[in-house]
Amino acid sequence: GRVAVFMGGDSAERAVSLKSGQAVLSALLSAGVDAYGVDVQGCLLRTVDAPEFDRVFIALHGRGGEDGTLQAILSQAGIPFTGSEMMASALAMDKLRTKYVLEGCNLPTPRFSAMASEADADRILLNLRLPLSVKPSHEGSSIGIRKVKNRDELISAYREAAALDPLVLVEEWIEGPEFTVSLLQDRALPAIGLSTDHVFYDYDAKYLTDDTRYQIPCGLDADAELRLQNLALEAFRVLGCRTWGRVDIMQDGSGDFWLLEVNTVPGMTDHSLVPMAAKAAGISFEELVVRILEDTLE
Ligand code: DAL
Ligand code: MG
Repeated sequence: GRVAVFMGGDSAERAVSLKSGQAVLSALLSAGVDAYGVDVQGCLLRTVDAPEFDRVFIALHGRGGEDGTLQAILSQAGIPFTGSEMMASALAMDKLRTKYVLEGCNLPTPRFSAMASEADADRILLNLRLPLSVKPSHEGSSIGIRKVKNRDELISAYREAAALDPLVLVEEWIEGPEFTVSLLQDRALPAIGLSTDHVFYDYDAKYLTDDTRYQIPCGLDADAELRLQNLALEAFRVLGCRTWGRVDIMQDGSGDFWLLEVNTVPGMTDHSLVPMAAKAAGISFEELVVRILEDTLE
């Protein structure tokens, strides 16, 4: 059947999604799949009304495409689509509620709190240890995330995050290194270690500069890498994710791992991590994309 690659959209990650979508589309075409691209803007219902496609490869990042709304509409319309279904998509898009679930399942995640207003700063500073990370709960690609070292910085980072999302998450900062584990068909691919001269692995370090260092093999000994991969798989499972994703994890100075979040439509650009991990496992980009698509046919 005909495959539509949904990309673009109107989230803050539109530019990233267009790159992911183009890369996916070219790979599908070179694998001989009858595919075309759809820039999903405006009302999603119109896009799936009288569809000219049989299946959808979702390459949308962020709200509207990765957060369960599209997944619900496609399910309702009976159109198979790649990746996680509605519930897991919605949950994983919400970093705060992801942490409620991780914590409830006794999985390690940095200590945290929701921040509802500027007046919440004192309570937060009593309960959590500086430095802190302030995040809009429903964003991707590190958009709106700030590291804060004092009360003034907390307030201004809160304002910045709250402008993007009324739900703001504050969590204790883990100095790193950062690792990421890509999951494909319920198996963990080799972990990647990330290092950057930026304060953290932010939007610029992710997409714009070429000075981010990707370590693959990740530099951990085999036991530690296995623990890291199992932690990622466990997070993926408890959130109910399907087929593929990427779990971001910090390691602290004592060697302990801390789960940050799960991405249900990870980037597929030429700077992106899942393609890198797949390659290290001997899986070409084309094969990766075909495998993700094939899982919609179960
Ligand atoms: N949200 C971006 C696309 C990622 O996780 O790769
Ligand atoms: Mg994310």
